[in-house]
Amino acid sequence: MKERISVDNNEKNMISSRSASRGVAQAVEASDRVRCLTGIDGLDNILNGGIPKGNTTLVTGTCGTGKTSLGLEFILHGAEEEEVGIFITATETSEKLMESMIPYDFFRPKLLKEGKVEFLSLHELYKTAGISGPEIDSKGAASLIKAVVAAVKKRKAKRLVMDSVTSVCARLSTEDRIREFITGLSHALAKEGCTAILISEVPAGSDIYSPYGVEEAVVDGVVLLGNLERRGDLLRTLQVVKMRGATHSRAKYVLDLTSCGVLLAPLLKGGG
Ligand SMILES: Nc1ncnc2c1ncn2[C@@H]1O[C@H](COP(=O)(O)OP(=O)(O)OP(=O)(O)O)[C@@H](O)[C@H]1O
Ligand SMILES: [Mg+2]
Repeated sequence: MKERISVDNNEKNMISSRSASRGVAQAVEASDRVRCLTGIDGLDNILNGGIPKGNTTLVTGTCGTGKTSLGLEFILHGAEEEEVGIFITATETSEKLMESMIPYDFFRPKLLKEGKVEFLSLHELYKTAGISGPEIDSKGAASLIKAVVAAVKKRKAKRLVMDSVTSVCARLSTEDRIREFITGLSHALAKEGCTAILISEVPAGSDIYSPYGVEEAVVDGVVLLGNLERRGDLLRTLQVVKMRGATHSRAKYVLDLTSCGVLLAPLLKGGG
């Protein structure tokens, strides 16, 4: 009887050590996922080596918090590393966006000439997808995903920014359609090995991650940009809220927009 118990215990130990090693293997696998370096050193450090390749990340924040700047830098750094990047814009024109790239120390016009950075207007993509009315139904959403993926395939793009996904969500109008669209898009982009940033705009003064409350749940990662008033100064802040496939800090950092790009420094809690 004793012997039987001891056999059972041995089996149990083996099972628990097997599941423990499976757990470790899974953790290693997760941390071993190939990373896409954003090129923003502070962010890559927070993420312990960048965004897991193929992830779709929501970069969210109120107006003027640096969402577009972060997206442009992500695309530019990728282009420097020979990764084609597509920047889909809904609000600003390609010309304006190109102009805002010029002051960066690391900007090289040849990246545009060589087609390493491509600007696409969301409006054009709507046309390609056959979307004309103000509302996008499920069929239209599927066509829009197809149009985006076709653009990615055509250019073999490895990075994509959509500025903003909020403007698409407004036209999708129902939570189910938004969920379906973002999930479908992120799966299709992951299949192409394309790492994506979806920019989300939230109203000033709110502490939500997205206007519809669905976006943050279905994406792989959430990076929250914000404002913090301190001693009469309005600081920009950045916080990684979640990133599937990566261990990361959830601390709040001060974000500085400079000609060297986004700079991050730990937020000193004292002296508020
Ligand atoms: N390289 C830079 N150096 C200093 N300031 C900058 C730089 N780039 C942008 N800014 C400033 O930061 C502000 C916000 O930048 P950005 O457009 O990236 O924010 P946003 O969150 O996308 O804003 P919006 O909500 O209007 O889309 C700009 O108004 C500009 O004044
Ligand atoms: Mg912007």
